[in-house]
Amino acid sequence: MSKSSPDNNQNPKDLALDALKSVVSEAFVGKFTAVFPKLFKCQWKTYEGQKKFFANFSDTGCNMAGRKFCVGGNWKMNGDQKSIAEIAKTLSDATLDPNTEVVIGAPAIYLMYARNLLPCSIGVAGQNAYKVAKGAFTGEISPAMLKDIGADWVILGHSERRAIFKESDELIAEKAEHALAEGLKVIACIGETLEEREAGNTNDVVARQMCAYAKKIRDWTNVVVAYEPVWAIGTGKTATPDQAQEVHAYLRKWLVENVSQAVSDSLRIQYGGSVTAANAKELAKKPDIDGFLVGGASLKPEFVDIINARQ
Ligand code: PGA
Repeated sequence: MSKSSPDNNQNPKDLALDALKSVVSEAFVGKFTAVFPKLFKCQWKTYEGQKKFFANFSDTGCNMAGRKFCVGGNWKMNGDQKSIAEIAKTLSDATLDPNTEVVIGAPAIYLMYARNLLPCSIGVAGQNAYKVAKGAFTGEISPAMLKDIGADWVILGHSERRAIFKESDELIAEKAEHALAEGLKVIACIGETLEEREAGNTNDVVARQMCAYAKKIRDWTNVVVAYEPVWAIGTGKTATPDQAQEVHAYLRKWLVENVSQAVSDSLRIQYGGSVTAANAKELAKKPDIDGFLVGGASLKPEFVDIINARQ
């Protein structure tokens, strides 16, 4: 007997149950077949759709070595409420590569203001912080204070702090140690002067600076190193991609020999020094360059193109 011609001897309760089952299953299958192609089409028809679809499941945005690209904007002592609001609007309106981590180093007095205006996906960094939590240190700010107002990063050891404010390798390393202990992430800057490069001392200088950090840092998870040749900072003279790659590769080797293979593989090393939208793409192709620390260009709309350099 076919299913469509009900068995007259069947119990009416079973008949009702069968009818209910078939209605439910047809409704479900019907709905499923009607809805699924729509879902399928909207997710798969366009490349953007495919990217979004997969982004929900997988992506960590890491490169082949498992390091997520990280771009920092270092505003230095620049900006006012009006210009910061404009930059924040540009960044909020732009489509930023979701595979790039972005951090803005604002002047201390505007950190909270910038935090409130920037998209949540963008981290905020102090440009300096002292090595203790509080006390009689007129003019200083502490990592605890940065955390308190919503900053999650601090830039330490920038060459301007080293050269103008005479910060030593040791002091910078102590600051990094304390900032990490307080739960901040640290952009730890290093880099040689022109004189040091011309004397052939680049590797020795960056090794010395790294050594000071390594004496104080036990866990490198929350550290990003920014290699910034001093001769390239604010001068318009970028290191060529090969020059930068050479030092980055040396730093990885140094890390293997002095810290560990695991840290060498996982630590992100940014390049900084006159990075612009025009040179970012080529620099970003180098295997050991995991991002940028950007000064002047981070105050301009082209910062968006630098963030998206790997697209
Ligand atoms: P610059 O600065 O991009 O203006 O050269 C970089 C930096 O100092 O971090």
